[in-house]
Amino acid sequence: MSISKIGRSIRESATLTLNAKAAALKREGEPIIHLGGGEPKSKAPVEAIEAAVALLNTREVRYSPAAGIPELREAIVHYTDAYYGHRVSPANVIASAGAKQALMVCLQAVVNPGEEVIFPAPYWVSYPEMVKLCGGTPVPVFPGEASFHPRMEEIEKAVGPRTRAVLINSPNNPSGAMYPVEFTAELIRFCEEKDLYLIMDDIYHRLIFDGKEPVSPYRYTRNSGQSSRLVVINGVSKAYAMTGFRIGWAVADEQLIRVMTNIQAHQTSGPSVVMQRAACGAIMGDQSGVESLRSTLEKNRDLMLEGLQSFPGVRVSPPDGTFYCFADFSHYRKDSTSLAAFLLDKALVATVPGVEFGVDGFLRLSTCGSAGDITDGIRRMKWALAPDAPREITLGTRKAVRDWK
Ligand SMILES: Cc1ncc(COP(=O)(O)O)c(C=O)c1O
Repeated sequence: MSISKIGRSIRESATLTLNAKAAALKREGEPIIHLGGGEPKSKAPVEAIEAAVALLNTREVRYSPAAGIPELREAIVHYTDAYYGHRVSPANVIASAGAKQALMVCLQAVVNPGEEVIFPAPYWVSYPEMVKLCGGTPVPVFPGEASFHPRMEEIEKAVGPRTRAVLINSPNNPSGAMYPVEFTAELIRFCEEKDLYLIMDDIYHRLIFDGKEPVSPYRYTRNSGQSSRLVVINGVSKAYAMTGFRIGWAVADEQLIRVMTNIQAHQTSGPSVVMQRAACGAIMGDQSGVESLRSTLEKNRDLMLEGLQSFPGVRVSPPDGTFYCFADFSHYRKDSTSLAAFLLDKALVATVPGVEFGVDGFLRLSTCGSAGDITDGIRRMKWALAPDAPREITLGTRKAVRDWK
């Protein structure tokens, strides 16, 4: 069997693999607590379901225009106006099969083989692989002093003749950190000056805590016209709890959107029209579900923080948003892959190793589940890691006995 160089260079998706392993254990009846997940547990908005069902009931479900149905592109124009205070036209919008595809098509439209894309660590697991899929080189930038906040000097140092784009995600998966507005403003100006694409993955921008406000990049652009190099990515997966619908989008200048549309036309012919209708329903419908999810996540964040802070060896900074806590467990074990495997094996708690996000020694813990999952997950992890823990513990319905030091 002969596999392409690019094919061979792509790693398995660590989070999807972990989900599969935890699901398999659960099917076998193991009382798994899943702190590895990246999807809210709330229900999709009723308007999303009604809109999808209405189309299905016509029994006429056809191809979509490659850039998305006009109704959804209009809804995304409305979204950009409502949540970014910026008026665009449908020609500035492409709807894709998830923010993931919007990002991928964007990278394919701007990155030539051998060119570089810079992104701060910790980073979302898919960024390096997406850049590699374009034949490009991922360039992660590691903020100094174990901080989650990149600094401009570090980004500037990473820029070279092959740099094509900078990609940021704030609030960030996995750290939950929101980059300071001054940093974002400076980065926007820097990218404009250097003629670099700035791709902002905003998928968590409505899930922010402590009364903080999301940053609208359009407030800081000098060039928001035809030759703008700013691309804003978003979608319905996280804020509307619609991960399985697979609808995301990009907002960018018309010419780039045309090229992205050409690429997408040959990949998928555009996302499913049924799911696009559902996304329209969510965007144009009652928004109270977003706030209720946000406030539940904030409470869960507090609970998770409290639990983690009671671990003698764990260091953690309060996340500003998202549904993740990224905590430093290196006191217990430096190799995060082996630590996550140990916790799954002994405490039946699924976590994601930090090394997958570019920072070893950390674990990403999800706050998407119930308060009970969080407190029980912490109790189990403490039992597995504390040297003076009792010999026995109950994990769900069964007893576990400690056979390690
Ligand atoms: C930072 C980030 N960007 C994009 C995505 C993908 O979103 P979607 O489900 O819309 O493809 C995720 C999902 O985990 C994410 O964490």
